[in-house]
Amino acid sequence: AAAQGVSVDPLRIVAKEMKFLTKNIRQLLGSGHPTLDTVAKYYTHAEGKHMRPLVVLLMSRATALTPTISRQSFATQTASVDSPISPSSILLDNNPSFPETNPLTTEPASFTSTSAPDSDILPSQRRLAEITELIHTASLLHDDVIDTSEARRGSPSANIEFGNKMAVLAGDFLLGRASIALARLRDPEVIELMATVIANLVEGEFMQLKNTARDEKYPKWTEETISYYLQKTYLKTASLISKSSRSAALLGQNTPEVVEAAYQFGRNLGLAFQLVDDMLDYTVSAQELGKPAGADLELGLATAPLLFAWKNEPELGALVGRKFSKEGDVLRARELVARSDGVEQTRALAQDYADKAVAAISPFPESEAKDGLIEICVKTMNRRK
Ligand code: FPP
Ligand code: MG
Ligand code: MG
Repeated sequence: AAAQGVSVDPLRIVAKEMKFLTKNIRQLLGSGHPTLDTVAKYYTHAEGKHMRPLVVLLMSRATALTPTISRQSFATQTASVDSPISPSSILLDNNPSFPETNPLTTEPASFTSTSAPDSDILPSQRRLAEITELIHTASLLHDDVIDTSEARRGSPSANIEFGNKMAVLAGDFLLGRASIALARLRDPEVIELMATVIANLVEGEFMQLKNTARDEKYPKWTEETISYYLQKTYLKTASLISKSSRSAALLGQNTPEVVEAAYQFGRNLGLAFQLVDDMLDYTVSAQELGKPAGADLELGLATAPLLFAWKNEPELGALVGRKFSKEGDVLRARELVARSDGVEQTRALAQDYADKAVAAISPFPESEAKDGLIEICVKTMNRRK
């Protein structure tokens, strides 16, 4: 229906499930150490877009209508998702210094995910949405340290508020708690996928430390320039969205075709999302973004608009090679991008991926959830922040 112009609000379709998301995430992040508790929950107070869990929940609902198969998994045993902490995990998590307030040691019942009743979304899929947001938030905590960022979502970033050490450690804590929740899904394939995401995020960030495949002082533009950027983009952004989307379909016992379609939807949406993100860095003000604009060049990063401009402006090679570090480099790079069609090419490529995402789920039966997924693709292309 969205394709015909009847717009649906993706959030409304899974509003019941989304309502419990932040509350459940905060429960997963409880620590008896009061400072850790505060730092770990810090980004859960800023109103994020929750794009990733939204995709997981909508994909869960959209694939609830497709044929299912029987997999070797305990994922449908809801008890394993929400069950009280077993003696062995109490032992593992036991911290004698903070016995009173640690929900994992003293209030096992509070680890239970609050569920929306009568939903066709499985408890395991709901938990997967929470895990996805946890991994994303952990990566933001680390990212803001790496990028020496000062603001996120309109507030001081965690590294500014609490310092680098606590921000890094809090990110690690989130990954630890995400791992516990993941293990409790009792689905080895999903555990493998989501653990791979964590590794992919780091690989993407490592690729980003270099702007090009070869580390040269005067790099030349080649076709590989774009493919290196796209591989990096898959790892740092699309991996989480695609593999969580695939995991949602797996938990729903879907056929390999549906599982692959869910993955392709997430992969293409993820690539479109990051291309738009990189475009907005050139086109939108800091006030609108809620974080510094034009930050990428200042960080030495060459993203899609500049990489497309570079093809016809060989002068950019030297600037890319020294990561825009010389006085006037950032300004010159901005000029060259502005007089090129780099921004338009970036938008066009993002649109290609958004179209591919929609095409991937076109065989799904018509449903509100499917329309919601299509609408996310539309919104991704139209967003200003
Ligand atoms: C935001 O990108 C950051 C990411 C998409 C991933 C960051 C990944 C790491 C720091 C790897 C290690 C972390 C974990 C938890 C595995 P951006 O800096 O382009 O966007 P921004 O403008 O929102 O900061
Ligand atoms: Mg950043
Ligand atoms: Mg970054």
